[in-house]
Amino acid sequence: MLGIKYFPQDLNVEGKRIIVRVDLNVPLKDKRIQDSTRIEQVLPFLKDLIKRKSKIILISHLGRPKGIKDSTLSLLPVYKYLKEKLNTNMYFYTGEINDEAKTKTSYLKDSEILLIENIRFFKEETENDESFSEKLGGLGEIYINNAFSCSHRKQSSIYSITKFVKKIYAGPLLKKEIAAIDSVIKNKKDPVTCIIGGSKVSTKVGVIFNLLKSVNSIVIVGAMANNFLAYKKYEIGKSLKETNYEDVVKKILEEAEVNKCKILIPKDCLVSKSFEGVAVSKDREFVEKDDIILDVGPKTIKIIEEIIDNSNTIMWNGPAGYFESKNFALGTNAIAQRISENTKNRSLISIIGGGDTVSAVNKSGLELSFTHLSTAGGAFLEYLEGKDLPGLSVLK
Ligand code: 3PG
Repeated sequence: MLGIKYFPQDLNVEGKRIIVRVDLNVPLKDKRIQDSTRIEQVLPFLKDLIKRKSKIILISHLGRPKGIKDSTLSLLPVYKYLKEKLNTNMYFYTGEINDEAKTKTSYLKDSEILLIENIRFFKEETENDESFSEKLGGLGEIYINNAFSCSHRKQSSIYSITKFVKKIYAGPLLKKEIAAIDSVIKNKKDPVTCIIGGSKVSTKVGVIFNLLKSVNSIVIVGAMANNFLAYKKYEIGKSLKETNYEDVVKKILEEAEVNKCKILIPKDCLVSKSFEGVAVSKDREFVEKDDIILDVGPKTIKIIEEIIDNSNTIMWNGPAGYFESKNFALGTNAIAQRISENTKNRSLISIIGGGDTVSAVNKSGLELSFTHLSTAGGAFLEYLEGKDLPGLSVLK
């Protein structure tokens, strides 16, 4: 992307207070980190800043606490993880963003880090509140956004903060993500297939409408597919589904036809009576009222594998099922494996995005390789959609 001001490698940062916005939004279960990819990705730049003796103020969100202090969404486990990985003094700040915070940051010595507790514990963050942004900006002399995955959010620590710090830059991880996605968009070869999973059609409608104009096929999997199955009058039992999905699905199918883009939805699925239950394979005609669809079935997997074999570019976002349980990770793992094999053996261009997708790929325990693996979910999709991301526009 043109015009973004990147962090100059030769900038003298010794003794400077640098605010770094990172994405430490990792999946947690009982306060334990389930996938540390996002933390691992921010380490190199932090190590570099430590070596160059800057004073680092780290900001991140975790989950969507809606402005309320929720201990299950505390960054404390992430702080402990970082402290173990970084060879420096590190502090965790749980107070308000006020003079006390400013005093604490002014006490930082060269190469030390202060991590601020989940910034979304303050409602002003998501409201993009000006005076909150000013206080946040007042904590440092330089601001660096190194969180491409959050740059689609018009929130204080991404957007308005940039008005209140003199020097603002995009960090190296953000630069790497954009360069990789840009290169895939530029070099993509037909046939192009997009695999879209996850649960909500509503958050991905824009990208689907945009993609169906430029790709050859779209494969819909995950809970998102339930809306399409229900629209086609298949029983989906107690499966996850959105309200008021009919018009959206209808429009997507109509537009796809106009643009000659094939839309594939599952022919069969793995169902269970509960999320912890055993998997039963059923054709879509035989799903019962008390079934929950939790993965795609073997026939669908076979069709998707063939589509992957016949594609020259693949973009994938969102798991195919409830991958947290190994009983329902078959579809996701099969897709990951097939894309990886094709990437290795015949230079398929593959771009995989989304926190859940990356977690699923890591959880599979398989040795996989893709052209680019992005931890960004929503930002990745909006960027592909061609939208101007607020967090990037302020870095120009
Ligand atoms: C993500 O998980 O995609 C980023 O951390 C952004 O999170 P959000 O969708 O809650 O803003």
